[in-house]
Amino acid sequence: MLRYILLLSCIPILAATAPLGLPPVPVPENNPQTPEKIALGDKLYHDKRFSADGKVSCATCHDENKAFTDNLPVSKGFRDLKGTRNAPTVINSAYMKTLFWDGREPDLEGQSMQPPINPVEGGLPDHKPILQTIQSDPEYQTAFKKVFNVAATDITMEHVSKAIASFERTIIAGNSPFDQYQYDGNKEALTDAQIRGLDLFRNKGRCVSCHLIEETQALFTDNLFHNIGIGFKKIQGKEDETARVFLQKKHAEKNMAAKDFVDVAVLSDERISELGRFAVTENPTNVGAFKTSTLRNIELTAPYMHDGSLETLEDVVDFYNNGGRVKETDPLSNFLAGGIRPLNLSDEEKADLVSFLKALTSPEIAKLAKQ
Ligand code: HEC
Ligand code: HEC
Repeated sequence: MLRYILLLSCIPILAATAPLGLPPVPVPENNPQTPEKIALGDKLYHDKRFSADGKVSCATCHDENKAFTDNLPVSKGFRDLKGTRNAPTVINSAYMKTLFWDGREPDLEGQSMQPPINPVEGGLPDHKPILQTIQSDPEYQTAFKKVFNVAATDITMEHVSKAIASFERTIIAGNSPFDQYQYDGNKEALTDAQIRGLDLFRNKGRCVSCHLIEETQALFTDNLFHNIGIGFKKIQGKEDETARVFLQKKHAEKNMAAKDFVDVAVLSDERISELGRFAVTENPTNVGAFKTSTLRNIELTAPYMHDGSLETLEDVVDFYNNGGRVKETDPLSNFLAGGIRPLNLSDEEKADLVSFLKALTSPEIAKLAKQ
């Protein structure tokens, strides 16, 4: 019985409006959007005190002036400690069915709990210092009282994560030249090269089989996990050993919940990071599989892929054209997804595809990036 109640409470209710090319933003029933909650989430998102050296906030790695990323190959946390993965944009993450490259968190509320206590991100031992800071700050006391009707001593991380998630549900951007062309009938919105690129994206390039474009909307992701051949060299031939040692440690862990263990392990160990979705599902077919990225605002979020290993969109297109390899002479990943095969694109076709990817930038995100 309890199970059903929990499931029901997760059914999203839909918000009314969304920009051109996007569906309504899903909002969980137990965390409705209010202007005060969104403002509180905005403040929490930018608060650097929630880190071991007082220098790292969510915005450090998801900076609005960098299309909500950090433009680094892999992120740097407190004391400049390096993780193993590239920071995805927060823009439109409200539409993601799972969060993180391996989908280890089911929702934004759960996701925001991890960075402050990850040893290569916020670096705090646990959430207590965050609650102490909030509970002793008069501005926060007033805001939490107004939003959640709680006394300072009753503020919990659940309140904190709900407010941050509400703020993130406002970081939504569509209305790119592609959207104007596709969903608003403005045939002038794309250049001829971009129109040819869109055709390649749908047909010869087969990009659309994972980066979805639908009848009335385009999220450019299927919300699924695929191994496209990135990063596997780091564990090639050592997949079994890496997986075995990881599982042994995961199952032996007594002091942390399994998902907290995974969060720490994947961001602090390059090889474990490469296990991808496997770290969550423990299903061997998921080794090296990562979540299909959205491609919206992709021009502004270089470098690319879960390990930040491809610098430019030209590099990305070459990579796909080579059937999931940087160079045609490179070996192929053992676990490569069926859809990744050489594409035989000409130089002009490759350039057209890149032009199309540059038509996915939302005007307001481009404006913020110029500031
Ligand atoms: C030190 C840099 C850093 C900080 C600080 C940080 N993040 Fe991230 N963020 C990342 C990286 C790296 C990933 C990808 C990690 C992974 O997939 O394993 C990520 C993933 C995410 C995602 C998932 C996006 C998707 O498409 O799956 C969201 C949402 C997000 N972060 C929001 C936040 C919020 C909110 C905060 C503050 C509470 C925060 N981040 C703090 C680096 C950071
Ligand atoms: C089999 C599914 C699949 C197909 C087909 C596919 N992609 Fe991807 N794409 C993914 C996945 C999964 C990722 C993330 C992979 C990773 O980091 O390991 C990704 C990542 C990307 C990224 C980097 C995103 C970022 O934020 O770093 C770009 C750009 C991209 N794809 C463009 C394309 C283009 C262009 C095509 C067609 C030539 C294409 N994709 C075909 C699944 C696919």
